[in-house]
Amino acid sequence: MQSQFIKYNNMSSEGKVRVMTTHRLLEMKERGEKIAMLTAYDYTSASIVDEAGIDIILVGDSAANVMAGHETTLPITIDQMIYHAQSVMRAVKNPLVVVDMPFGSYQGNSKMAVSNAIRIMKESEADAVKIEGGMEILESVERILSAGIPVMGHLGLTPQSIHKFGTYAVRAKEEEEAAKLLQDAIALENAGCFALVLEKIPASLGKKVAETLKIPVIGIGAGKYVDGQVLVMHDMLGLTTQFSPRFLRRYANLHDICLEAFRQYIHDVKACDFPNDNEQY
Ligand code: KIV
Repeated sequence: MQSQFIKYNNMSSEGKVRVMTTHRLLEMKERGEKIAMLTAYDYTSASIVDEAGIDIILVGDSAANVMAGHETTLPITIDQMIYHAQSVMRAVKNPLVVVDMPFGSYQGNSKMAVSNAIRIMKESEADAVKIEGGMEILESVERILSAGIPVMGHLGLTPQSIHKFGTYAVRAKEEEEAAKLLQDAIALENAGCFALVLEKIPASLGKKVAETLKIPVIGIGAGKYVDGQVLVMHDMLGLTTQFSPRFLRRYANLHDICLEAFRQYIHDVKACDFPNDNEQY
C-alpha cells in the first residue's frame, strides 16, 4: 500500500487552520530539519506547548503514569484517552496532534482496531493515532489506514508489552532483535505509516532505521541521528523525580518550584497572611 500523507492544513474544532501536517513532517525530514514532539494531556499545558512552537503533540498513554499514577500504561481506557485528547484539541493552534491507542484497543482484532481508531478520531478531532508493535499488528495498521486515519508506529521499548518483556531495559542490543526491528520498521513504512517512534534502543540502530526509512523517525532514547525527538512533558519539566533514564534531559525542576509554592501557600493561610486586605472584596 502507498503511504498517504495529509498534504493540506488541518482544521481545528473552531475552524482555524492549523499549520502542521503529516506531509510537512515528511518535508522536514527531506530537508534535514529536526522534528520536536512532546506529550500533553490537558488544555492548559497543551496551550503552552503550542505557544512554544512544538511540531507534534502526543496525547500519550503515559497519561496512565503521570496523570493517573498507574505503574504501567495498561489500565488507561479509550474513554480516558479521548477525554485527554479533547482537552488538548481545545488548546492547539499549530501542531499535529497524535493520540495513543490504549492497550487492548487494537491488538488481535483489526476490525475492533479500526472502529476504536474511528471513535478516537471522531470524538477527539485529533489528526492521527499511534500504535505499538510491528508485524504482529500490521493488519490493524492497514485497516486503520484504509479508513483514512494516519498512523504513527512505535517500536523498540513498547511499554504496553511490559509484561511480555518484564523489564524497561534498552531494547534491540542483540543483532537478531535489531534485524527484526528494522524489518518491522520497513513493514510499517510500506503499510503507509506517516512516522515512527523508536524508544530506548542503541543510537547506531536508530541511525540505521532513520537512514533506511523515508518517513520521519522520532526517538526517545534512540540517539541523536534520528529525525526528531519526543519526551514526556512531566519528565522533562522535572515534575516527576523518580524516573531518571539516561535519555531524559530535565529542562526545569518544577517539582521543587511547586513544592515551595504549595508550602508557602499553606504557611500564608495558617499565618492569616492570605488573603490580605487587597485580596478580598
Ligand atoms: O505514551 C507516551 O508518552 C509515549 C512516548 C514515550 C513516545 O508513547
